[in-house]
Amino acid sequence: MTGRCVTRDEDGGARHEGGPDIATPPSADLAGLEALRAGDIHVWYVDLALTVDTVDRLGACLSEDERGRASRFKFERDARRFVVARSALRTLLSGYLGLTPRGVAFTYGAHGKPALDGIHAVLSFNLSHSGDVAVVAAGWDRAIGIDVELRRPLPDLADLAARSFAPRERAVLDALPERERAAAFFRCWTRKEAFIKATGQGLAQALDAFVVSLGPAEPARFLDIDGDPDALSRWTLRDLQPPSGYAGALVVERTVRAVRGDRWSAAGAGT
Ligand SMILES: CC(C)(COP(=O)(O)OP(=O)(O)OC[C@H]1O[C@@H](n2cnc3c(N)ncnc32)[C@H](O)[C@@H]1OP(=O)(O)O)[C@@H](O)C(=O)NCCC(=O)NCCS
Repeated sequence: MTGRCVTRDEDGGARHEGGPDIATPPSADLAGLEALRAGDIHVWYVDLALTVDTVDRLGACLSEDERGRASRFKFERDARRFVVARSALRTLLSGYLGLTPRGVAFTYGAHGKPALDGIHAVLSFNLSHSGDVAVVAAGWDRAIGIDVELRRPLPDLADLAARSFAPRERAVLDALPERERAAAFFRCWTRKEAFIKATGQGLAQALDAFVVSLGPAEPARFLDIDGDPDALSRWTLRDLQPPSGYAGALVVERTVRAVRGDRWSAAGAGT
């Protein structure tokens, strides 16, 4: 895990809800990196637009299965983005676990959510990619979902919202002035996507059974989850600060003590 360039409190470090300070297992790769403490979430921003030589070097840490996936992309650019995102994920997780990137073994949930196996399962993570950006979130012992989306023109925005948003969310969207609608759409989309990725259910989860805030003046939060107050208090929703032109959200089970954002560097990674 190299090249720690930027560190910031995604949320201004606003909430510190306690829990013991448990350092990560020591690892040479983590030298200089602030430990991932209990209740903290680390968010890593990964630039996927790297040179072919760098991508080739990074790809050396992928599994056979991942190489197979990379080879099946129709466009070379998508294959390269996949390779960089997976090798960044492997390098980051290996740093927390004291393994080599190649030594990281994934298992997959019923709806395809990757996780770590056996004694390493206590480290939770999630990955998202869009355009030239990937984001990885990691934390101990709690479900995590993350989503990043390139803000792009969406001529079918109203149709997408009609298919994917809850009636309350659509009402907020429709009431906004036209100029604010696209930003609100991506806020809502990434917040909902981060939740269905946190539960691991993906699109098997009913998108209209939970409601998130999306208005420009509202903080990121759940407004309803299945009409269940317990579920509402079980999940934390935060916005990310991805590069300009992107929107992003993070959902974490239980409370979050602090969210730290860093930029991942490919220099020396993947070995
Ligand atoms: C697969 C899905 C979980 C995310 O897909 P996505 O938004 O296209 O892609 P993202 O880049 O955010 O996430 C993909 C990554 O999430 C992880 N992932 C895969 N299945 C997952 C699941 N069930 N739960 C959590 N994470 C999952 C993987 O790491 C995957 O990347 P990789 O295979 O390259 O390593 C699913 O939610 C989906 O198909 N969404 C489609 C978009 C949609 O209609 N959203 C409605 C929002 S209102």
